[in-house]
Amino acid sequence: MFQILEKKMLNDAVCMVKLAAPLIAKKVQPGQFIIFRLDEFGERVPLTVADYEPEKGTITLIFQLAGESTRAFAALKAGDAILDLVGPLGMPTEIPEETQSVCVIGGGVGCAIAYPQAKHLHQMGLQVDTIVGFRNKDIVILEEEFRTCSDNLYLCTDDGSYGTKGFVTNVLQQQLENGKKYDLVIAIGPVPMMKFVCKTTEPYGIKTLVSLNPIMVDGTGMCGGCRVTVGGKVKYACVDGPDFDGHQVDFDELMRRNTTYREEEHDCRLHGKGNH
Ligand code: NAD
Ligand code: FES
Repeated sequence: MFQILEKKMLNDAVCMVKLAAPLIAKKVQPGQFIIFRLDEFGERVPLTVADYEPEKGTITLIFQLAGESTRAFAALKAGDAILDLVGPLGMPTEIPEETQSVCVIGGGVGCAIAYPQAKHLHQMGLQVDTIVGFRNKDIVILEEEFRTCSDNLYLCTDDGSYGTKGFVTNVLQQQLENGKKYDLVIAIGPVPMMKFVCKTTEPYGIKTLVSLNPIMVDGTGMCGGCRVTVGGKVKYACVDGPDFDGHQVDFDELMRRNTTYREEEHDCRLHGKGNH
């Protein structure tokens, strides 16, 4: 069992949970994920680790209340425990050796994963700009955390209720047009956002890493659920990723595959047997 040490709602639909998981905390690196199962009937849900403290033996998860399992997880409180936590899974993010300046881009809940990347790169002594985007002011998360690890933080909202009005891609385009140079862009958020960030950086020849979130089942490369096409080749996000060269990713296929079980999620046949 893995005990919840702290739980906080960051906004109405996004929850932060800190868990005691000393072995995972000791090994995990930025970009890697875990799979949790709340109880013996629970589905397996993959989540990228948002933060970790090896010396205290804790990991932090930040997730959107997207289905029954995440809603049930968010209903737990400090002192409760969950049954399974498997990880760290996937490959850590690989930063090219020559990298000096990076732009980390987070969209909505994707900021939960963009933040540890920015923090790690900042600790490595790199120049880190961050661009974070949200639909509106009410759902902004991790602003202060990003500020502490960014040389420049650009915050935008779709409706202009806070920061610059527009998408993260508008801010990025503006930066690049103004002559800003980045060796690397890391984009994490909704699939259309990652697709359009890649379209924005491509003409400038800036290497762009994206963290893919396909449907996962086992998380160990066996079921094929997380199949993605990268550079015309089949890859499995759980073992080959989740980070990939965004200019090589078939985003349209990923968007199609991600909607496969939408109906089942809303009309689950296992309802009532556990946290589905
Ligand atoms: P959202 O739809 O509110 O978008 C967040 C921001 O992304 C927007 O404010 C905008 O700046 C940018 N954006 C969105 N669509 C864009 C487009 N077409 N072009 C350019 N920029 C765009 O995001 P949300 O609802 O908070 O996020 C939920 C999504 O993020 C889910 O689909 C979830 O699966 C995904 N997510 C992905 C990861 C990952 O590892 N890649 C992690 C967490 C969440
Ligand atoms: Fe099964 Fe990746 S989740 S192969």
